[in-house]
Amino acid sequence: MLSISVEEFLFWKKKQLSKGGDQQSFAFLIDCIGGISSRDLNLISINPEGKLHLKKNLEFLETVWNEHLLKSCPIQYLCGTAFWRDLKLKVTNKVLIPRSETELIVDIVFNIFQNKSEKLFFAELGTGSGAISIALALAYPFSYAVATDIDQNALEIAAKNYMNSCKQSNLQFYCGNWWSPLESFKGKLDLAISNPPYIPKDTYEKLPKEVKNFEPKAALLGGEDGLEHIREIIQKAPLFLKEKGWLILENHFDQGEKVKQLLIKNKFTSIEILKDLSGIGRFTIGRYK
Ligand SMILES: C[S@@+](CC[C@H](N)C(=O)[O-])C[C@H]1O[C@@H](n2cnc3c(N)ncnc32)[C@H](O)[C@@H]1O
Repeated sequence: MLSISVEEFLFWKKKQLSKGGDQQSFAFLIDCIGGISSRDLNLISINPEGKLHLKKNLEFLETVWNEHLLKSCPIQYLCGTAFWRDLKLKVTNKVLIPRSETELIVDIVFNIFQNKSEKLFFAELGTGSGAISIALALAYPFSYAVATDIDQNALEIAAKNYMNSCKQSNLQFYCGNWWSPLESFKGKLDLAISNPPYIPKDTYEKLPKEVKNFEPKAALLGGEDGLEHIREIIQKAPLFLKEKGWLILENHFDQGEKVKQLLIKNKFTSIEILKDLSGIGRFTIGRYK
């Protein structure tokens, strides 16, 4: 622990923020690497005479901040951490940084399956850091869940995140293309969830560099029209879902209606396009017959 005066810290903070970047990313750095939460920092800042105790010295924190600013590297990758719902997850550039809008998928599931003691059998396709599956496996402790990803490196991170989040053993990870690792679970799923890569090719090319240069292309690019993976997931879902089983998909801001049509074409019912907190039709859900 390194003890410095609040006054010195505040002076240093002002200097760092004058170089660029936003308050939120800076607070993230001080929390994850410095070991002081934003709440504590606000409380400490009231008294400039006081002292604060940092886990790393200011030179080290400054090096990380400079790297964030110079290379536009997301602060979560530099800190190796992302906060998502109430989870603290390890992230590297092998996994997408889980987005706050995706947090709503968990609430959609809560709305459909209100009894947390239910013994659901669910699958997440394309788990990345494991965020969605871990949150659901924790919320439904009597359920059994499987999570897949095409990338073994991502699965290793997801498995570590699961181990670090709980002592449960109701979630298993499988490597492979969408449904293919789940052959033995055909017709058994109450629920399948996916936030697949859905960015159309043209849009992908124009993504901000902090996304395009750092986050895995395989987690973002959804082919020419963005719907390549969504199509494959929907077409095969009827083989894996139980009768009346649910499929929940995240999609790009303007894909809701097209995803709805794909669900109709594949005999899904109770289809709804659900909005995120910005009012965008971000999720499309349906039941198989
Ligand atoms: C948009 S990311 C979502 C990650 C995580 N579920 C989340 O919401 O933060 C999509 C994930 O799908 C995985 N993926 C891409 N293509 C895949 C495929 N053909 N089969 C299985 N997973 C795939 C990527 O590796 C990535 O982890």
